[in-house]
Formats: sequence, C-alpha cells, structure tokens
Amino acid sequence: MKRRQFIKTTAGAATILSYSPFLKANETIDKVFQTFDAEINLTASPMEVSLLPGNKTNMLCLNGSVVKGDSHFLKSSQGYLGPSFEVRRGERIKVNFKNNLSEASIIHWHGLDLPEAQDGHPSYAIEPNESYTYDLEIHNRAGLYWYHPHPHGRTGYQVYHGMAGLFVVRDNEEDKLNLPAQENELFFVLQDRHFDENNQLIYVQSGHDIMMGKVGDKLLVNGSLDRERKVAKEAYRLRFLNGGNALTYRLQWSDGKPVKLIGTDGGLLEELTDRDSVLFSPGERIDLLVDFSDKNIGDEVELQSIPLVDNSSSQPFTVYKFKITKEGVKNFDMPTQLSVIKKIESNEAVNIDSPKVFKLAPKAGVGWTIDDLGYEMNNIRPKERVKLGTTEIWEFDLTNAGMVHPMHIHGSQFQVLERIPGPYSKDIVFDGGWKDTVAVLPGDRVRIIKRFHDFEGKFLFHCHILEHEDHSMMRDFLVEK
Ligand code: C2O
Ligand code: CU
Ligand code: CU
Repeated sequence: MKRRQFIKTTAGAATILSYSPFLKANETIDKVFQTFDAEINLTASPMEVSLLPGNKTNMLCLNGSVVKGDSHFLKSSQGYLGPSFEVRRGERIKVNFKNNLSEASIIHWHGLDLPEAQDGHPSYAIEPNESYTYDLEIHNRAGLYWYHPHPHGRTGYQVYHGMAGLFVVRDNEEDKLNLPAQENELFFVLQDRHFDENNQLIYVQSGHDIMMGKVGDKLLVNGSLDRERKVAKEAYRLRFLNGGNALTYRLQWSDGKPVKLIGTDGGLLEELTDRDSVLFSPGERIDLLVDFSDKNIGDEVELQSIPLVDNSSSQPFTVYKFKITKEGVKNFDMPTQLSVIKKIESNEAVNIDSPKVFKLAPKAGVGWTIDDLGYEMNNIRPKERVKLGTTEIWEFDLTNAGMVHPMHIHGSQFQVLERIPGPYSKDIVFDGGWKDTVAVLPGDRVRIIKRFHDFEGKFLFHCHILEHEDHSMMRDFLVEK
C-alpha cells in the first residue's frame, strides 16, 4: 500500500495544534495534506432492496465508487448499507456527495475530527440534485468511525431508511499489534427495523415513538437478516457499530466468557479489558477480541443482549451467532498492552471549577431537550461558546429523567472524567478510552473533558437517539479564536 508522505511547506498549511488522541504531549503536527490520495463519489438515491422474502423494500441508499486512487479506499457493503471507507491516518480524500433524493441531505463523518465545512452540519444541507465536495484530511488515530446524513429533522428518517456506512481508519500504532486481520477481522453494523406486511419500513408513527425513539422488531446486521456465520477455531477481532436509531444493547457471550474489549469510539484502549457485559448505545462503537480455539467443531457461541437492568423480566436476545466449523491454523496470543492513552487531567480545563452543566429533560411541546431548549440553528448561547485551543469540562445531567441518552459531541474525541452514577450505571458502564458518544443512564451525571484545539467553527452536540436528535435534543456549539 502506498503511504502518503507528509510534506512540510508554509503556504496553505493545515496546521494542527498539539493535542490529540494520536499525538504525544508537545508533539505538533505541522504538516500539509498536499494531494488527495483518492477521490470518491458517494451518491444518495432511493433504491429497492431485497431484504425479506417477497416484496423488495424501498430504501434510501448511499452508493460509492473510487474515481481516482486505489480501489482499497472503498469496500462495497452487503445489504442496503453504504460502502465502507478504509483510510490510513494522514491520508486525504476527496468525496463528491451527490443528493439524488427528493429531500435535502448532507453527510456527517461521525467521530472524525474535521473543520466545520467538512463536518456535515445541518446548515450545509444540500437540495435534491445538488452536490457537496468534502476534503477529508484524516487526523484521527486508527479506529472505527462512521458516516450518516445530518439534515435537521430528517436524520432519523434517512438513517433508518439505509443511509449509513463505516469509516475505518488504520495507523502504524495499530498495525504493530498484529491483531487478527483479513477474514479474522469482522465488522458488524447493528440496526433494528420495523416492517409492514408488504416489507416496507414503518418509521415514526406517534409522539410516543419520538419520545422513546424508534425501536424495530427485527434486527439486521450489516444490512441483512442473516445473523450467523461459520468461524474457525481461531481468534477474531469483532468490530461493532450500533447504527440503530434508539436501541441500547448490553452484550455478553452465551458461554459465560468475559467480553474482551480492546477499543471504543476513538480507537484502541490502553489495555485489553475483560468485562462481564458491555453496554452499547446508538452511535457508539466497540472493538472486541474473541478466541474460539478452545471450542469444538460443532459448537455455537452467541453474542446476546441482556436487559440493561439486572433482574428485569425481559429476556436476553441473540444478536449474532458464531458456529465453529473449522480447525484453526493461525495462532494468536491475546495482547495486554494495546496503546498509550494520556489522561486529560482536569486541571487542564479552563472551567475546572465550573463545569458546563447541560440538563437533559423532556419538555412539553418540544420533546427531549438540552437545558429545556430544542435545536435552534445559529442561536448559540454564551455557554455554547468555546475558545479555540482550550480544554473544557462538560456535564450531562440526567438526574431527573428516565431513559438512556447517548450524548455525542462533534469534533475531537473526548474522555469521560467522572460519572456520578444514578441507580443503573454502576458496574454496567465502561468509561475508558477515547469517546465521541457517551451513554448517560437515568439518574447519572456524566462529566467529560474535551480539547477544542483543532478547528474553529460551528459544531453540534446531541443525543444519538435519532428521534431525540431530530425533536430536538441537539444544540450548536461554536469554537472561536
Ligand atoms: Cu452521528 Cu451529529 O452524529
Ligand atoms: Cu457525529
Ligand atoms: Cu435521547
């Protein structure tokens, strides 16, 4: 694979200040992403897709092709999903997004640290038959990111109808670990959907659907109802996106083995972490290792989701089934140390003594809100202004309201500083690693610490239950000099 080279020049330099998931303290990127490594066309259009036996389903799909550069930048997907991007840190790609829908749209690159004009803010939404060209310079460390539309009020609808895809970033730090790769590295996009008797999608029908978020009655994985696969007696790397609109999972193995977590939203953890179960809310990603080498041919192991609350009356359900059908040929030793994550110390924050508290609560006539406000494009409160180059502590306060809200902040990845738990999150939530989406459980107050060091401009933070985001648990924040 051709690696791009960083070339140091002065004119037009995209200078990134020192910070970041991928840099050690004091290290500064002063490099120019000079040429595009690839140019990709990404087109949104209505399509009929065969999902269930019988009638085809009307979907909205993203189709992509590499028009310049090597074909490895894009992998076509199964089902209705958009293609998977696969890019190395330091590469730069151009994406020509064409909107062939009958409504406005714009693509957001979830988890990538990008300037405002590349971030897919709803004020950038383009009308039918228009195009938008993205210049994506990949600063993020290796990790599983994703992309989806973000037009205000229509994000939930468009994602539900199929518009989403993976964005895989690789880097040298990750390569050195020699994690299971190729056919031993598997990607899973979890999305629940609700169909009518003609195999057409049923979306939001009531205020209740908006308040609770749209939950389906069928679980699709990678755009397909097929939720099992054959595996060898080998180790696998399993990489998951919760691409559903509203459903939160709590994943565990059916054989009682610990879940071996190696990464979250912003890439690898410091060390492999054994968990009894992993809470997994919409928008989040998890990276797991599993070793089937001690299984017997014919064994089946399921990844299942158990109720969020222990002793609840609801039943676990199968998310995915692995059937062990082949002897193994590859050996793999579980790593312990994975990467180095420098903790952001709270005294780095300019507001260490006065965290910005955002209250999460429902409001009559609006829906779910932040500080009792719905989304107001371009009405940015003083509290929502941040000085470029600073670090801040924000708190999501859900002391008064009763459901999980996965809170997502655009821009660079953050760290969870502290969780003052309500009655549910103790022992079931893992807050390590770099995050862009954090599940706030009823009663919780979650404090995050985030560096706003890279790009000035207008960005979003919101709940990633897409019906909440649309109605309208979302606010702008402005990073300014
Ligand atoms: Cu994945 Cu603003 O969202
Ligand atoms: Cu995002
Ligand atoms: Cu919410």
